[in-house]
Amino acid sequence: MANNNPAKNILYQKLQVVIDEKMELQNPLIEILHQAQEIFGYLPAEVQQFIADQMRIPVGSVYGTVTFYNFFSMEPRGKHVINVCTGTACYVKGASKLIQMIEEELSLNMGETTKDGQFTLTSVRCVGACSLAPIFTIGEEIFGQIDSRNKLKTILDKFNRYA
Ligand code: FES
Repeated sequence: MANNNPAKNILYQKLQVVIDEKMELQNPLIEILHQAQEIFGYLPAEVQQFIADQMRIPVGSVYGTVTFYNFFSMEPRGKHVINVCTGTACYVKGASKLIQMIEEELSLNMGETTKDGQFTLTSVRCVGACSLAPIFTIGEEIFGQIDSRNKLKTILDKFNRYA
């Protein structure tokens, strides 16, 4: 943990506590990565290296897991992460159009974060709300039947207002 930034050191100390706790589990890596992403907001190479060192596993194993699951990010994410469902029902009901509307509205591409750091756009597989297709989630909330720009704008405005 060679770091002269005290704030950052506190984050690494938190992560160390998590690692010590989770090492009791049978497969602790995914749980540790989830918590690390909560602590740091994303999983940069130095955090992956730290986890690998502490767990005494090759950093390639950590990297492989981070890149395998799309809920892990190696880039800083926006305050609000928009997960558009690209499962079958949502796809059939216009997920591609929805993605395009969001991209245009926020001036970004899939996987990117807005310049003001408010929103990141990613995709997910079916979240079990197929009857509301096409849907996206922000945090714990599911927004369904987003078939017009007005509906989309109303939702995005709400999150911008409470930014
Ligand atoms: S396919 Fe999108 S919620 Fe099921």
